[in-house]
Amino acid sequence: MIKGVIFDLDGVLVSTDELHYRAWKMLADELDIYDFNEEDNKNQRGVSRMESLEVVLRKGQKHYSEEEKEVLADRKNEYYKVMLEELTPSAVLEGAVETLKMLREKGILAGIGSVSKNTPLILEKTELYEYIDQISCGLDITRSKPDPEVFEVAARKLGLSPKECLVVEDSAAGVVAAKAAGMKSLGVGPYYKVLGADYQAETLLSDINWEEILSGN
Ligand code: BG6
Ligand code: MG
Repeated sequence: MIKGVIFDLDGVLVSTDELHYRAWKMLADELDIYDFNEEDNKNQRGVSRMESLEVVLRKGQKHYSEEEKEVLADRKNEYYKVMLEELTPSAVLEGAVETLKMLREKGILAGIGSVSKNTPLILEKTELYEYIDQISCGLDITRSKPDPEVFEVAARKLGLSPKECLVVEDSAAGVVAAKAAGMKSLGVGPYYKVLGADYQAETLLSDINWEEILSGN
């Protein structure tokens, strides 16, 4: 029996995954890495800022020290934060608010499980705070997905056992993390068919059999 749903944020509730890509692309261009593309961006979904930077740097020829990498990651985050300042509730993905409202009506708790350190700002700008019971994000953890830490923290904050939680994810790393945490998962987004999730839906607006999913069968 599922008592709480833990949502990834970027690419599940909000379209910020596109902004991440644009900000990384700006940095890549500045570093003369011109073949960084959407296929590479797929491997950035769900992983930390520093691991995302490595995805970009792998496409280039130069090597950087750890200090230089910190500076580059900070620079990308500055570009990204400028974009986030423009964020409005229109960035909320289709079906997200409806799903959050439906779950609350059923007495199911809603949590966030995102490795993004910008989670509080995104929830504020998109006005999603009011639908969320507990937040576990990059500010609470030391290990990124596919490590289960972010979902374990979310379950603990919700006061639930792993078996009582369902994870909603758009990344392969996130689905692996959910499994490692002992939680079932619903895969959504452009790659939903290949994430290896227990349940699949293109978007939260798709025909999802919530009765079956929430019953834990
Ligand atoms: C995840 C994104 O939600 O957050 C990743 O899918 C991103 O692409 C990660 O790297 C970290 O985000 P931030 O906002 O802390 O740089
Ligand atoms: Mg995501």
